[in-house]
Amino acid sequence: MTIDEIAAADAPMDLLLLADPSREKILGYLPRSRCFVVRDGEAVVGACLVTPIGPRAHELMNIAVAPQRQRAGVGARLLRHVIDAVGQSGAERLEVGTGAFGHPLAFYQRQGFRVTGVERDFFLRHYDEPVIESGMQHKDMLRLTLVYPIGP
Ligand SMILES: CC(C)(COP(=O)(O)OP(=O)(O)OC[C@H]1O[C@@H](n2cnc3c(N)ncnc32)[C@H](O)[C@@H]1OP(=O)(O)O)[C@@H](O)C(=O)NCCC(=O)NCCS
Repeated sequence: MTIDEIAAADAPMDLLLLADPSREKILGYLPRSRCFVVRDGEAVVGACLVTPIGPRAHELMNIAVAPQRQRAGVGARLLRHVIDAVGQSGAERLEVGTGAFGHPLAFYQRQGFRVTGVERDFFLRHYDEPVIESGMQHKDMLRLTLVYPIGP
């Protein structure tokens, strides 16, 4: 498996839609994002978009792994690569917004992200369709932040 940075215009939309059900929103942040992909041979099995949001601050906007390749460490490897790449660009912090329950919350915290805020009703206000995970509707968004340099 290899991880490469590619042009945002070549980002794999089918994967990005797994993490963000709104194609319109993805097309909004895609042009100003850096795009990283995981390849296994010819197949693209993971993707991640990161966008600058301020002086020395970036936001991870989207990360996804192909369904048949999930739970095998691909996402963690991609996330670590992106954390390193953003850190090397001189960033002081990397943020991500995610649902207040579910698998991605543990996935991010395992890599050192900490909860720094909550946006109540975010998913109700910003999405036309209910965002459902494990049979439950997402309402609030947690903001998680990873601060550089990464401590023990
Ligand atoms: C979130 C995502 C990128 C993680 O990638 P991944 O390759 O599956 O993750 P990894 O195998 O590296 O890590 C798995 C860890 O993530 C969490 N996790 C991810 N999917 C999970 C699932 N279906 N069930 C339980 N835990 C899960 C667990 O903490 C798990 O650790 P464990 O296997 O030791 O229990 C992937 O599941 C995905 O693409 N999901 C759909 C899109 C999405 O929700 N993106 C995040 C939006 S905020």
